[in-house]
Parts: sequence; structure tokens; C-alpha cells
Amino acid sequence: MFRILTLNNISPLGLARLPADTFHVSDKEAEPDAILLRSFKMHDLRIAPTLKAVGRAGAGVNNIPVDAMTKRGIPVFNTPGANANAVKELVVAGMLLAARNIGPALHFADTLSGSDAEISKAVEDGKKDYAGFELPGRTLGVVGLGAIGRLVANAGVALGMQVVGFDPGLTVEGAWQLSSNVKKANSLEDLLRASDFVTIHVPLVDATRNLVNAERLALMKKGAVLLNFAREGIVDAGAVSGAIKSGRLHGYVCDFPMNQFKNDRRVIALPHLGASTAEAEDNCAVMVADQVRDFLEHGNIRNAVNFPDVASPREAAHRLVIANANVPNMLGQISEALGAAHLNIHDMVNRSRGDYAYTLVDLDDPVPPDVVGRLSSIPGVLMARLV
Ligand SMILES: NC(=O)c1ccc[n+]([C@@H]2O[C@H](COP(=O)([O-])OP(=O)(O)OC[C@H]3O[C@@H](n4cnc5c(N)ncnc54)[C@H](O)[C@@H]3O)[C@@H](O)[C@H]2O)c1
Repeated sequence: MFRILTLNNISPLGLARLPADTFHVSDKEAEPDAILLRSFKMHDLRIAPTLKAVGRAGAGVNNIPVDAMTKRGIPVFNTPGANANAVKELVVAGMLLAARNIGPALHFADTLSGSDAEISKAVEDGKKDYAGFELPGRTLGVVGLGAIGRLVANAGVALGMQVVGFDPGLTVEGAWQLSSNVKKANSLEDLLRASDFVTIHVPLVDATRNLVNAERLALMKKGAVLLNFAREGIVDAGAVSGAIKSGRLHGYVCDFPMNQFKNDRRVIALPHLGASTAEAEDNCAVMVADQVRDFLEHGNIRNAVNFPDVASPREAAHRLVIANANVPNMLGQISEALGAAHLNIHDMVNRSRGDYAYTLVDLDDPVPPDVVGRLSSIPGVLMARLV
């Protein structure tokens, strides 16, 4: 029986992935095998020696002491891409809101007064100010072609738009998931010059802070629309206000309200709603529960932020998993300890990532507990466990 401690409410669809005959799930478990959480701040939490995995239903892990977990050989799982569709849909909504001037138009309609006949007349007189434009044939520039950017790019193609993308770190796997109609921009600057809509889907790191600044806004087409559903700090808000005032930007649609945008109808600032759908919450919970279960039951690692992906179907009756520092002769010492116990290695998978590595060993014969103890005592081994 595996004991799971939940530190936040986790969607029932996710918890249903942990069968009651092998998993006991509670929000009051003193000695958990795994923790599931969303935004609970784990930094001051006492870590029980029984803990083997942490699963975050969501992407960011700054509420989790990842380094401390790594030193104990505990993978921290997250759910990249589980909320991508939710964000994509809001970006599509954002393009339509800007193209059809919905913000100013709603405001205009709200301020009408008088009899219904007077309102109808005012509508007919005033509506020309809110005439918009349609999406087919317009160019959509997608900056960052990760889980969200790819879906947005493909949606743009489906809407009949010309789509250009820029992502120097695009993976082969990612490229396979992109419509062949998405064209590659050679630089961010080229993308900005070419696009009627520019949408940002990069992480906020030092290199992307103020990525969209006054200089780059000046390259954009007159009347273009900028969308930021990534992070506030990626776009220089002051420069955006300037670009709107000068008419360079037709509108700015983002997930980050700020004082300076208040009462500017050409800015639509939503209250960080990108991932706020019931489906996104369910997807995150299902994904993280599946990953944690696979790790506890089979030692497989998928989507841990601190260890490499290592997963393999069981090739033999017994499996040993080992997390260790990525230093020379670890595999030699592990093989030697198993050989000394007359254990034949049926299959072995080892991968490293940065300073750490993870090994799955399938064996034909049962592994005596003292062998696990001996492996755990090898300097550099962070965790060894039979699964
Ligand atoms: N609004 C919300 O509620 C919400 C929800 C989820 C994610 N997000 C934000 O969206 C961002 C993107 O999410 P994702 O799931 O697509 O992430 P991801 O990691 O799958 O993709 C990010 C992509 O950006 C690329 N990239 C990094 N630096 C770049 C640069 N300078 N120029 C061009 N490309 C660059 C990377 O190579 C990667 O392909 C996240 O980092 C997060 O901050 C916001």
C-alpha cells in the first residue's frame, strides 16, 4: 500500500488514477510515500524519511524545495503542457477581442442611455467607430513554440492565418507537432516586422525579461496586436503603453492587469485566466497522478524537473532503481555490488541530467534487502529502492 499526502485539493479525476487497493490518499498522512500538491508552499514542511516522490499538478515548482528533494533522490514531477489547450483558447479569444474592438465596443454599449429607441439610434450612429477586421490572411507571429505556442500556431493555421514562428530551442518532437504551414522566422525581429498579431509563449528567465521592449515594438507593423499570456515581465509595460498611444499597436491583450492599463480600452488585461479551466485542472491532476503512480510502482520517471526521463517496460521479475550523483564509476560500483551478491543483470537503463543520474536495473532473481542497503551506502548514491 502506497501512502499519498495531498497538500491541496487535487481533482477527483486525478485521484481516481490511484486505485484504493494499492493507494491510500489523505491530507493527514505523517509518513507519505508521495506528496501531491498544487500551490502549497512546501519549503517549511518537515520531509518524512519515507518520501519518495513529489507531484505538482501544474507547471511551476518554486513552491517546492527542489534542490533539497534532489539531494534525497526524490523526483519532483510536474505537468508541462497539461494546461496548454486552456491557454491556446484564451489566446484565440484575445485575437478576436482585439480584432473586433470588443473592449471599447462593450464600453460604448454600456454607457448608452435613454429609451430603447434612442439607444438603437445611438448604436447605429456610433457603431462605425468599432468596425473591426477578420483573421484569415492576417499574419500571426508566435514567439516560443513550446506546448502552448505550438497549439496557438496550429490554431492560427486552422483559422486561415499566415503563421510564422520563432524558437531557437524548438525540439525535434516539437517540430513534428507543428503544422507544416507554420513558417520559420529567422529572428525575433523578422517575426515582429512580418506580423499583424504577435503572441508570446516563452518562459520568464533573465534572457526573456523585457524581451518585447520599445526598440522591438518600433519594428512592429502599424496597427498590430500584441498578446502576452506568458508572464508579465517579458513585456515592457511602459513601452507598450507608449506604442498604444502612438498608434503603433492597435491593442494589447494580456493576462496581467497593471495600474497603468486601467481605463485604456485598447488594453484587455485579464486576471491571469490562462490556465483557469476545469479541464486544465483535471488534465494536470490526471497527468501528475499517472506519473507518480508509475514511479512508485515501476520506478519510471517522466516529467521530473530534477532527474532525467527514464522509463522502460519491466523486462524481468525484479527491478531496482537508483538515483545518484553523475560522477565517474557509479555504474561500475553498482554492477560490482550486484555481482558480489550473484545477481544477474537482465537489463539496465541509465541516464544523466546535469549533476544527477538515474538507473533502472531489471534482475531475474530477488534482491536481498542487504544489497539495497549496500547500494545505498555507496558514496554518491542518493536513493536505492526495490520496486
Ligand atoms: N497565462 C497563464 O495562465 C499561463 C499558463 C501556463 C503557462 N504560462 C506561461 O507560458 C509559458 C510557455 O508555456 P509552455 O507550456 O508553452 O512552455 P514550454 O516550456 O513548453 O515552451 C517554451 C518555449 O519557449 C522557447 N523559448 C525560450 N526562450 C525563447 C526565446 N528567447 N525566443 C523564442 N523562444 C524561446 C523554448 O525553446 C520553448 O520551446 C510558460 O513559461 C509560462 O510562463 C502562462
